[in-house]
Parts: sequence; C-alpha cells; structure tokens
Amino acid sequence: MIFYFTGTGNSKYVAERIAETIGDTVQSIEDYSQVVHLKDGEVLGFVSYTAWFQIPPLMREFITNLNVVPATDNYAFYVATYGTMPGYHGEDARRTLAKKGIRLDASFSVRQPDTWTPIFELSDPVAVARTNEKAEAEIRELVVKVQNRVQGNQTSRRWPYFIHPVTEWLLSRQSQTKHFYVEDSCIGCGLCARRCPEHAITIKDKRPVWTKKQCSICLRCLHHCPKFSIQYGDGKTKQHGQYRNPHTKV
Ligand SMILES: Cc1cc2nc3c(=O)[nH]c(=O)nc-3n(C[C@H](O)[C@H](O)[C@H](O)COP(=O)(O)O)c2cc1C
Ligand code: SF4
Ligand code: SF4
Repeated sequence: MIFYFTGTGNSKYVAERIAETIGDTVQSIEDYSQVVHLKDGEVLGFVSYTAWFQIPPLMREFITNLNVVPATDNYAFYVATYGTMPGYHGEDARRTLAKKGIRLDASFSVRQPDTWTPIFELSDPVAVARTNEKAEAEIRELVVKVQNRVQGNQTSRRWPYFIHPVTEWLLSRQSQTKHFYVEDSCIGCGLCARRCPEHAITIKDKRPVWTKKQCSICLRCLHHCPKFSIQYGDGKTKQHGQYRNPHTKV
C-alpha cells in the first residue's frame, strides 16, 4: 500500500509510478481511516510534497492517527517530492513514523516543478516540461531503488533536523488562510470547496470563504481553479502561473 498526499499531482504521480512497477496499490490519505493490515513482505509507502522543508500538516496528522498491524519482512519508505530544497523532510518522516512504532527503511526525494508560486515561477510551459522530463529520470532510478529495497536516508540536499523550530514557525505563518483572496473572475463553481483536502472552504454568495484559520497549504485550490481566481499573498501568484502535474488527475 502506498499512501500519498498531493496538492497538484506530483506526489500522486510518483506514487502511481512506484505502484505500477512493484505491482502495488496507491491510496490517498484524504478521509482514509481504516486499519492497515500488512501482509508478509508487503511494502508500506508514503509520498507527499515538501512544505517548508518538512512533512505537510495533513500527512503528519494522518501518520499520527494511522493504525498499522505489521507482518514480517515489510519495507517502509517515504518519498518527499520537492521543488528546490527538501530540507529535513526525510528525517522528519523517520521521526514521525518512529513515534508510531514504524521503522522507516528508506527515504527518497524527487525534484519536480515548485508549486510554491508566491515565490517560484511556473508560467513558462517549456521550462515546466523540462523540469518534468528531468523528474522522469529521477523517478526511474527511484522505482529501481524501491524494488531493490534500498535502505537509509537517500534524500538529496539534506538539511540538519535542528532547524525545524524555525521552519515550523514559518510554516505556521504561511499556512494561515487569511493570505488567500479571490478575484472578480470567480464564477462560483464551488470546485475549490469540493477539492479542498482540509474541508477549509465553503461557498457563500457564490464566492469561496475560508472557514479554517490554517490549512495544509497544498495550494490545490489556487492551481485548480478553472478561472485562476484564487491568489495568495502579495499578488505574485498571478504572474507565476498555475500548475497541475500533466500525467495524473487529482
Ligand atoms: C506550501 C508549500 C511549501 C513548499 N515548500 C517547499 C520546500 O520547503 N522545499 C521545496 O523544495 N519545495 C517546496 N514546495 C514545493 C513542493 O513541495 C513541490 O512542488 C511538490 O512536488 C508539489 O507536489 P504536489 O504536486 O504533490 O503537491 C512547497 C510547496 C508548497 C505548496
Ligand atoms: S474554483 Fe475558482 S471559480 Fe470556482 S468557486 Fe472556487 S474560486 Fe470561484
Ligand atoms: S484551502 Fe487551498 S491550500 Fe488550503 S488545504 Fe484547502 S485546497 Fe489546500
């Protein structure tokens, strides 16, 4: 079983590629609350985007509430998809799973287009396609490593874990939903509310309203709006463009 949490599809695509190679199944973490009964030799995988150099909040909550019944010879791995710097995501995953008594055999990372568009630019389709092409090579290597049950923290560009109080503070500030705003182009279709993994949006008078103070800041609402009406922060998101992984649907 390979669990994934995605905003724009990158992590789902990586989970699917691993699953098709090793003959396993993928499962979104959203609204999943069953007990996981592992079979002998079965793989337990996790794939998610990197949020401020660490595990995104909803994945952390999911692992914290996860109920796994292990068998023998299981192999647990975590893949951090990232755009620029995965930080200490691998070590964070190891510690978070260890608290649940799950020993992480390996952690990996895959570089894909950086969906943090308050800073990063995704408006050039050629540059985005080039990044996704490079990611293909990394994904091919990754699936072989999972197949061979490679051990250890294989995450690239690692940062030491001791900086986490700083980045946690940054994440808690950036994940405040007060940073979102809606432009007049909104047609009130409600897609953002239906797709939000945190159920943080409701539609009022044909406009999205954020009902939670904080969310997992996956930016799915911003990148999937059919009118590109949702923006974040100081307005750079409009010029930096929308992104959805071209190989899968969220
Ligand atoms: C709120 C937020 C924070 C992010 N923080 C980081 C980061 O710290 N380091 C990084 O390399 N990429 C960061 N990214 C980029 C994503 O991790 C990356 O684009 C990922 O592949 C997106 O995966 P998804 O399509 O499954 O959501 C961030 C993206 C978002 C939305
Ligand atoms: S998805 Fe976009 S157009 Fe539809 S309700 Fe949300 S903001 Fe408006
Ligand atoms: S409000 Fe937007 S960014 Fe926050 S969790 Fe929902 S879809 Fe993701």
